[in-house]
Amino acid sequence: MRLDPERAHEIAIAALRCAGWSGFGRGLLRWKFAGREALRLEQEILGRVFPNPVGLAAGFDKNAVAIRGLGALGFGFVEVGTVTPRPQAGNPRPRIFRHPREESLQNALGFNNDGMEAIHRRVTGGYPYPFPVGVNVGKNATTPLDRAEDDYETLFRGFAGGADYYVVNISSPNTPGLRDLQSPERVAGLVGLGRDLTARPVLVKLSPDLDLDAAVELAGAAVEAGAAGVIVANTTTDYRLIPGARDSGGLSGRVLQRRSFEMLEALAGALFGRTVLVSVGGVGSGDEVYRRLRAGASLVQIYTAFVYQGPALVRRVLARLAELMERDGLDTIDQVIGYDAGR
Ligand SMILES: Cc1cc2nc3c(=O)[nH]c(=O)nc-3n(C[C@H](O)[C@H](O)[C@H](O)COP(=O)(O)O)c2cc1C
Repeated sequence: MRLDPERAHEIAIAALRCAGWSGFGRGLLRWKFAGREALRLEQEILGRVFPNPVGLAAGFDKNAVAIRGLGALGFGFVEVGTVTPRPQAGNPRPRIFRHPREESLQNALGFNNDGMEAIHRRVTGGYPYPFPVGVNVGKNATTPLDRAEDDYETLFRGFAGGADYYVVNISSPNTPGLRDLQSPERVAGLVGLGRDLTARPVLVKLSPDLDLDAAVELAGAAVEAGAAGVIVANTTTDYRLIPGARDSGGLSGRVLQRRSFEMLEALAGALFGRTVLVSVGGVGSGDEVYRRLRAGASLVQIYTAFVYQGPALVRRVLARLAELMERDGLDTIDQVIGYDAGR
């Protein structure tokens, strides 16, 4: 019998947690999996040094238990969460499904997490890390939508400091009504809260199911309100992408590649140079990372390809990225970003 995907994930997290515990374990992971690319992949952005532009997307280490182990695999940054103010169990299992032919996942987790207090303790306990760590925040399922801002306020107050950036998640399809927060007024309000209550950059994570015009308008409103960046995109509810997919949860992985790239292009067209664009959705190779950077992303994140391709993925991706830069005579990541934008 095949292992249930959520069980497999729990085992992977436990292994990374153990291996990341000691300097010896991390050294072993680094030796086995991480690459030794030159300084050329390093970048200073969002007030921090990012050792490389390839990060782990939110939702893998929801509870911030494996940050160091994940960093030792080579990720240039790690985003934990989504964290809600109070712990919550999420939706009933099974709630993660594989679509191996499409190298895609379908998840209906619903922000299962240990809650702000426990996760804050874990993140700050290890802070600072040798790479940036972001905290992705969202509302509890039981908080009425018209009180959603209260949850984000609680989270910003609770976390203030103790992480390198924050992400306002208003785009998960698994918390009823959450995506309704994607209006210019509410986005601006949420970003304003973050700006007032934390000393760190605040980013907004958008859904791939928005119209391109609406996405550009929302991202613009976020930036006006002081957002340091925009992450595109979360999972999609366009179930037509996979014949036979269930009609609940969010799809991620290769089926999202095209849409998330289109959104990046639209946002770069309007906002390149005015904010930090983080591209996520169906990235699973160094070539794809390079394409995103050239299209105007400053950072790229990966989730589903990491699940399918395993821990050596990051090393492979970074080695290929360095190779492509060398091919094109580019010495730094800054030179790669938006490489095509001015042409
Ligand atoms: C199992 C699973 C859980 C996720 N949980 C979260 C989450 O808690 N918060 C969030 O912002 N995104 C979450 N995501 C979305 C990812 O961060 C990412 O935006 C999306 O999967 C697209 O990237 P990918 O194609 O590389 O997986 C989750 C994705 C998966 C597959």
